[in-house]
Amino acid sequence: MNTSYDFRGRVAVVTGGAGGIGQGIARVLRAGGAAVCNWDHAAQPAGEPYALSLHVDVTDEASVRTAVAQTLQALGRIDILVNSAGIVGHVAAVAEYTLAQWRQVLDINLTGVFLCCREVVPHLQARGSGRIVNLASIAGKEGNPGQAAYSASKAGVIALTKSLGKELARTDIRVNCIAPAMVATPLLDQMTEAKRAENFAKIPVGRAGTVEEIAALAAWLASDDCSFCTGAVFDASGGRATY
Ligand SMILES: NC(=O)c1ccc[n+]([C@@H]2O[C@H](COP(=O)([O-])OP(=O)(O)OC[C@H]3O[C@@H](n4cnc5c(N)ncnc54)[C@H](O)[C@@H]3O)[C@@H](O)[C@H]2O)c1
Repeated sequence: MNTSYDFRGRVAVVTGGAGGIGQGIARVLRAGGAAVCNWDHAAQPAGEPYALSLHVDVTDEASVRTAVAQTLQALGRIDILVNSAGIVGHVAAVAEYTLAQWRQVLDINLTGVFLCCREVVPHLQARGSGRIVNLASIAGKEGNPGQAAYSASKAGVIALTKSLGKELARTDIRVNCIAPAMVATPLLDQMTEAKRAENFAKIPVGRAGTVEEIAALAAWLASDDCSFCTGAVFDASGGRATY
């Protein structure tokens, strides 16, 4: 990958940094000189040299608050927040979906992004600058059958991104989201073979995206070069998105 930005002196938090896309984004931020902190409830991935790795449940207010305090204590500041923690959740028709299954997906994918933004934004505001990159999904624009909770959660991430982007627009804090189609990561293991095939078939370029392709876009969104874009949704769907 040719992507290279100057992130020296910056501290980036990546939620879901033990996962496929989170690790890829962490790599490109680190390549630019950022100190990258992983917030995940899974163990730190082997071989991923995070400056700090914290056990965090993004759905838990106290856990997120503690993570902010520990990150500031260890690394001194937060400049970049990448909200990548997420799950597919149960794949089933709405009529068969339990309330508990629905709440789990909404809690992790949407409330988790809200909580991390809410706890980190005051620290960005104190210095008047920062970058937030949220992982939404093409499902949030289109709605995938059998994935109503996932699709609704990602539509929520898109709306949250737009609202927060506008709230902070008069500062140098930029808030944007990425809407990928299928990217080859462990997340896809949560889908049945049939659901994976159905989603792959919708991608005009005829292949899954790579973690590096998502990371390159995220790096630009986290950089100073992203100065006039905020509250926006960036497509990474191999041509699937029609708007
Ligand atoms: N891979 C894809 O095809 C794809 C497509 C569109 C959008 N996305 C989105 O991109 C993001 C990253 O996906 P990925 O492919 O890297 O998935 P992944 O499964 O590889 O990683 C997700 C990470 O989130 C963590 N996580 C889950 N619940 C958590 C919680 N409560 N607290 C803290 N961490 C938690 C997991 O432990 C995991 O490390 C997700 O939000 C996903 O919805 C992925």
